[in-house]
Amino acid sequence: EWQMDSFIDSTVAKLKEQIGDKGVVLGLSGGVDSSVAAALLSKAVGKQLTCVFVDQGLMRKDEGDFVEQTFTKLFDMNFVRINCQEEFLSKLKGVSEPEAKRKIIGTEFYNVFWNKIRENYGSGYFAQGTIYPDRIESGKGDAAKIKTHHNQVEVPQDITFEGIIEPLQDLFKDEVRVVGEKLGLPHELVWRQPFPGPGLGVRVIGEVTADKVKILQEADAILREEMDKCGYASQMSQFFAVLPGVKTVGVMGDSRTYDELVAIRAVTTDDFMTADWAKIPYDILGRVSSRIINEVEHVNRVVYDITSKPPGTVEWE
Ligand code: XMP
Repeated sequence: EWQMDSFIDSTVAKLKEQIGDKGVVLGLSGGVDSSVAAALLSKAVGKQLTCVFVDQGLMRKDEGDFVEQTFTKLFDMNFVRINCQEEFLSKLKGVSEPEAKRKIIGTEFYNVFWNKIRENYGSGYFAQGTIYPDRIESGKGDAAKIKTHHNQVEVPQDITFEGIIEPLQDLFKDEVRVVGEKLGLPHELVWRQPFPGPGLGVRVIGEVTADKVKILQEADAILREEMDKCGYASQMSQFFAVLPGVKTVGVMGDSRTYDELVAIRAVTTDDFMTADWAKIPYDILGRVSSRIINEVEHVNRVVYDITSKPPGTVEWE
C-alpha cells in the first residue's frame, strides 16, 4: 500500500521532468490500465494531457457516458471523445465470421484513432497503459492464442513522437488497481471486469446491427443490475449477456411470439486460460430471466450457458 504511495509520488515527479512543457496523448479505452495511466498523467501534467476515447458504439449500456463523465469531471485533462458507431457498423455490414469481425473492428479502431492523432496531436509524447504482464505476453509467440486480441497499439510510421511513455510498465494488475483507487478513480472503474476490445461486436453473434446491439445492451444492463443487487457480481470473474441471433417461438397472452434468444454467460477463473461456469443460484437466474423478457423488447427466451473452458471459451465468438 505505502509502496504505491511512493510509486505515485516518484512517477509523477519523473513524468513532469520528462514531459516538460510538451504535450502527451493517450488512447483511453475505459479499461482499468489506460484509465489509471490517464489519472497518473493528469496528476503530473494536467491539461498538457489529451486522452482520445474512441466510442465505437459497441460498449455496454451507458458506458461511453460514464467514461466521459469520469474523466471530464474528476480529472484535469483535455478529453476527446469520438463517436463512431455508424462507421463501425457500416464496415461490419454483412460480416458474420468472428475473426473477420475482430479484424475489421481492430483496423477501424486503428484508423479512427490515428487519424485523429495525426490531425491534432502528432507531436510530443505518446502514452500507453501497458502493464508488466503485457510485456511478458507480447514476448511469447501467438501459437497458443485461439482468438486474436488487439490490446497493444502500434504507432504508424508517419507519426513521430518525442517518445513513448508507459508509466505502469513495471506494475501487476493488483498494484495498478491500488494506484487507481489512490488517484480517485471510481471503484466501479478500478474493479472493472475484463471487457474484450471488440466489445459487443463479438457478443452479438453473426452480423452486428444497431438494433441487435441495443437489445443486447438492455439485457446486459439488467443482468448487471441484478447481480450487483444480490452481491453476486463481485464473486464472478466475468459475466455478461450474449445475443446468439436465434429466434424461437414463445407465447405472450393469447398470441404466439417469434423473437430473439438471450444467453447469460458467467464464469469464475484465476487466469482466464481455463474457467468454470458459475453456479449462480436459480432464484437469481430466474429474476434476471423474467426481467429481461418483460423489459427488453424483442426477447422472448433466456438460457444459461453451462459450459466450462475448455472446451468452451469465455466469449461465444
Ligand atoms: P476467451 O473467449 O478467449 O476469453 O476464453 C478469455 C478472456 O479474453 C477476453 N477476450 C478478449 N479481449 N480482445 C480482448 O481484448 C478480444 O478480441 C478478446 N476475446 C476475448 C474475454 O473477454 C475473456 O476475459
